[in-house]
Amino acid sequence: MTARITKDTIGVGFIGAGDIAILHAKAVNKCPGAKVVGLWNRSRDRATQRAAEFGCKNFATPEELVRDPAVDAVFVLTNLESHLEYTKLALQHGKAVLVEKPVGVSVAEIEEMKSLAASKNLVVVPGHNYVYEAGMVRTRELIEAGDLGKIVSAYVMYNIHHPEDVAARYPGVVRQILTHHSYILLYLLGKPQKLCAMKATLHYDAIPQEDIAMVQLQMPSGALAHLCASFAADDHAADPWTVMVKVIGTAGSTRYSYRDHVEIKPGLVHSQTYSAYQGSITNEVRHFIDECLRRGAPPLSTLDDAIAAQKMIEACEKSIAEGVVVGL
Ligand SMILES: NC(=O)c1ccc[n+]([C@@H]2O[C@H](COP(=O)([O-])OP(=O)(O)OC[C@H]3O[C@@H](n4cnc5c(N)ncnc54)[C@H](O)[C@@H]3O)[C@@H](O)[C@H]2O)c1
Repeated sequence: MTARITKDTIGVGFIGAGDIAILHAKAVNKCPGAKVVGLWNRSRDRATQRAAEFGCKNFATPEELVRDPAVDAVFVLTNLESHLEYTKLALQHGKAVLVEKPVGVSVAEIEEMKSLAASKNLVVVPGHNYVYEAGMVRTRELIEAGDLGKIVSAYVMYNIHHPEDVAARYPGVVRQILTHHSYILLYLLGKPQKLCAMKATLHYDAIPQEDIAMVQLQMPSGALAHLCASFAADDHAADPWTVMVKVIGTAGSTRYSYRDHVEIKPGLVHSQTYSAYQGSITNEVRHFIDECLRRGAPPLSTLDDAIAAQKMIEACEKSIAEGVVVGL
């Protein structure tokens, strides 16, 4: 059990105030007993704009943010390459952390976060938002209870068009999106035994990142899984595979879909608003504040899961580079 916070209002500070910070700010505002105290962002114009939008303080430096006694927890919402630096800074100043995915650039980086967090008795929660959806939790309960019988297959599909200027800010879909798929599979079925992967770049003019990747995996039970991540095109057909998670067993099956709730207005970078995007982050933040910080309980997906997910991503990269099946 990690340190518990008993204050009436838990103060949150954001390091990084890009797109995802907008969803996290809404999530904190929806969580009773939590508030966004302030933010720091590398580009000062963006910092000023977001601080005004969120109605919070605009810190001059990340050090000033982590030293503020009103900040109990830090959300690290910058790009992947700087997650370790800011997570360490927050932990060294006694703050709990929620760090966006992918948590680190390498397994070694995530292990460094884990050992520092343990030495400080503080929680670091990976931004593994999908598993905080009720449909995911129920699916896992059904699998664990044996109610779906012998699991034969699982599918995690993602087909959401991202324009090139948005994709340019991220790694390719292997790291950016298959990280989600990896922790989802770990949460539902545990660690796979081996995998093979392929990728392609189909709709960008200039950037080199892949915009589609697919993975086949085998679980220790023999069950097979398939992961697909695409920024290349939306799926406009009936019952689209926008974001779809399916588990099929000999005694039952389940489905989770982003298409269960759709608002006809553009999302941040999506052509429509999938309510589950905000909803899963709202649930994740609620769990972080109420369960992890107030009760000392673990997150639903831990740093160990982030390490296992990163190993899967690195296995995908090896499989793609060498054209081989990779054991885990
Ligand atoms: N959980 C999800 O579904 C989800 C969705 C989108 C993004 N993300 C993750 O959130 C993080 C941020 O993504 P975003 O969409 O907000 O990106 P963004 O480009 O909109 O914002 C990133 C912010 O980080 C800042 N930044 C970039 N490099 C930095 C550095 N070296 N040091 C300090 N600040 C730096 C930029 O100024 C920018 O304001 C990424 O890790 C991304 O993978 C998660």
